[in-house]
Amino acid sequence: MAPQINPSILSADFARLADEARAVEGADWLHIDVMDNHFVPNLTLGVPVVESLRRATDIPLDLHLMIEDPDRWAPQYIEAGAGSVTFHVEAAAAPVRLAREIRAKGARASMALKPATPVEPYEDLLPELDMLLIMTVEPGFGGQAFLDIMLPKIRRARQLIDRHGLELWLQVDGGVSAATIERCAEAGADVFVAGSAVYGAQDPAEAVRELRKQAAG
Ligand code: DX5
Ligand code: ZN
Repeated sequence: MAPQINPSILSADFARLADEARAVEGADWLHIDVMDNHFVPNLTLGVPVVESLRRATDIPLDLHLMIEDPDRWAPQYIEAGAGSVTFHVEAAAAPVRLAREIRAKGARASMALKPATPVEPYEDLLPELDMLLIMTVEPGFGGQAFLDIMLPKIRRARQLIDRHGLELWLQVDGGVSAATIERCAEAGADVFVAGSAVYGAQDPAEAVRELRKQAAG
């Protein structure tokens, strides 16, 4: 699959979200980080803001739920307009049931792994998913340094996906920039979340194009 770049609005100006979404037109998905002050030590936004963003842009919405009890809340984000919903396996009570419900409601189902969560125990779950997210920072904040020690996990995830002949997308999130995206792509990632590297740039749309070029090698 051609590499996809998903700008994270966590690094945008929250008082100007509609403009910030339009500033990255041409991006594949808009990555929206939902945090609840419990699963991670930060608080961002909820369903009403996602509904408003849905009306403000045509870019499909990639929801990253860093919240407790995603089993309960995920359906509401699909109704709000999410095209893809990522839940954390560390927080989900019933990941298979949740993935099936997300798909049944018409969105792409995705599961995220924090840095200390290994991928191997979830090999048998992969066919239930449309995307696997390997976190390359501890979730909670933008602008953190990329964790190089996650590269072997990305490689192992790619091997599992290929061994089973799955069409699962492999997303990386955290510290992805011009300095790190090539290593992620080489390890087998094909969907790249970038917050500070896009919204910290003079021209965010141009930053998206540059990152995509770099990821394609
Ligand atoms: C962190 C979030 C990321 C964050 C990435 O918990 O999941 O999506 O916005 O920001 P950067 O690209 O600046 O590391
Ligand atoms: Zn994220």
